[in-house]
Amino acid sequence: MTTYRDFHRRSLDDREGFWAEEAKLVHWHRPFGKVLDYSRPPFAKWFVGGETNLCYNALDRHVARRGDQDALVWISTEVDQTRTFTYKELFQEVNRVAAMMQSLGVKTGDRVIIYMPMIPEAAFAILACARIGAIHSVVFGGFAAASLAARIDDAKPALMITADGGSRMGKVVLYKSLVDEALKLAKYPPRKVLLFSRGLDKSMPVVPGRDVDWSEFRQRHLDAKVYCVWLESNQPSYILYTSGTTGQPKGVQRDVGGYAVALASSMKRIFCGEAGETMFTTSDIGWVVGHSYIIYGPLIAGMTTILYEGVPVRPDAGIWWKIVQDHKVNVMFSAPTAIRVLKKHDPAILRKYDLGSLKHLFLAGEPLDEPTHRWIAEALGKPVIDHYWQTESGWPILSSVPGVEKTPVKFGSPSFPVYGYDLKLLREADAAEAGTDEKAVVAIEPPLPPGCMTTVWGDDERFVKTYFGTFRNKQVYSTFDWGIRDKDGYYFILGRTDDVINVAGHRLGTREIEEAVSMHSNIAECAVVGVADSLKGQMPLAFAVVKDPSRLNSAEGRKALEKEVMETVDRQLGAIARPKAVHFVSLLPKTRSGKTLRRSIQALAEGRDPGDLTTIEDPAALEQIRNALKS
Ligand code: PRX
Repeated sequence: MTTYRDFHRRSLDDREGFWAEEAKLVHWHRPFGKVLDYSRPPFAKWFVGGETNLCYNALDRHVARRGDQDALVWISTEVDQTRTFTYKELFQEVNRVAAMMQSLGVKTGDRVIIYMPMIPEAAFAILACARIGAIHSVVFGGFAAASLAARIDDAKPALMITADGGSRMGKVVLYKSLVDEALKLAKYPPRKVLLFSRGLDKSMPVVPGRDVDWSEFRQRHLDAKVYCVWLESNQPSYILYTSGTTGQPKGVQRDVGGYAVALASSMKRIFCGEAGETMFTTSDIGWVVGHSYIIYGPLIAGMTTILYEGVPVRPDAGIWWKIVQDHKVNVMFSAPTAIRVLKKHDPAILRKYDLGSLKHLFLAGEPLDEPTHRWIAEALGKPVIDHYWQTESGWPILSSVPGVEKTPVKFGSPSFPVYGYDLKLLREADAAEAGTDEKAVVAIEPPLPPGCMTTVWGDDERFVKTYFGTFRNKQVYSTFDWGIRDKDGYYFILGRTDDVINVAGHRLGTREIEEAVSMHSNIAECAVVGVADSLKGQMPLAFAVVKDPSRLNSAEGRKALEKEVMETVDRQLGAIARPKAVHFVSLLPKTRSGKTLRRSIQALAEGRDPGDLTTIEDPAALEQIRNALKS
């Protein structure tokens, strides 16, 4: 029997042989000539010359053998509806949308922004883009108009696809009016907007000549057959914006062939999902987990995927387990915050349902604390696998790989480096390898394996500088996470090395929130830090210096200003980024060279020692933070 260790070693010792073997899991229209071209480090090209298509691998390939099997099951507890699409039906819908897009002038290589709620049409749109080689960029529905506009201007799309609205906790969330606002703000708005109306927004404005009604247009393309555009393995498949150190989100660009192979391989080796089985991933299509493990991964594997619109506690905290029972879910993937939310409810609700079909539950996106890991593993009586990865990697970096070897799980640890990743724990100062139990930067020795980001959209230099520029003496990929390895080789992730925070599994940049706070006309300057939160993992907390302090003289004035600042963040970025509180101070702690001491502020906010303060310009600033926190 192959052990995990042998498998991992072989993936690095014989990279090309290893991945050539894994590449057999997908369909190649034209075989690749070279497995890996690493002639221009750190840019890695996988399966060079090979031609394939993500949509072909997700749909066409399965239609003949499993055409009548369910491919997509949409369950909405928001609008109390379930819709099911077999592989044949999904294939047909995707063909229609692909034809609709083509007749709107979308060509291979054009960008298409998808700003949609969790409805089947969003999946059709994603797969239709892949079919014709258009580059999709899905923007999470929780982002506000200004954020959407920034992404539009970076991607310069030919088309935008949206819906009238979504629903959250039974409340309608308007999408179309937000899109209209974003298109007004954008310098490069698309010519056309394809609009799916769910009947949620009766007074939805329509712009004649620009907005195209999905349902009407679909009628004209009912019998459409659109051939897959064969793409060279390294052509871009999608852009997904993610937060980093600066206020400007980065467009993570992914290829076609490497991504298809990485997903097919991970479905088999990590998630153990077999064709004909069912996968339920509770993320959103706007995040990388949604891309890889709601849409592409399970379909490439020939599974049934469940697309869920709703929250984990409505109508009650048993809804996910009811879905597992009713749809005989075999593989489930969720995030630690959701489990912490469920943990607050009576565990008896879990035992109401027959979870016999479930093989294991995978959790990722944020640190999984040991008590939550233990609780859910005991409550389910199934293996619960913590695994660690990023938007940039597209698939797991650290995980147990049960399809190769069922290694024992350690609570609180995402286990070991996944095959293909030459993972290193490097000391920040000199890139030397850290020893056992020593906290260091989690880094990947390039070339990055298939599936990982290939560059930053439109900015190769930013890709190299950002991700490979952490150490002066070594060109390695930094994950921007701290980690530690114990004596048994298990890894533990200890949080980010940069200014990225993780709120309920949502990745946000504190700089982006600072910029949003600063959009309030009375804010002169601010610092945002992430503070530990028992439910959401982290929450943003803002400290702001005002231009006109007269409103701070009364408690009501302060409260009103705090509310206005929060609303500004909602408008600029979205409610997910709203700070837990806004504290007003007259100066921020800075070094003598003018850098804000965010780490010290964060430490104080979490009740820890603020650390080395020898470079502080004015210690009174820190005193103000202390006092603000006390109040
Ligand atoms: O800090 C790490 C944290 O989430 C970041 C990546 O977030 P995102 O790009 O949204 O991708 C999520 C893909 C699952 C990482 O840099 N993170 C992710 N998984 C874990 C984690 N932190 C601790 N444990 C994890 N299992």
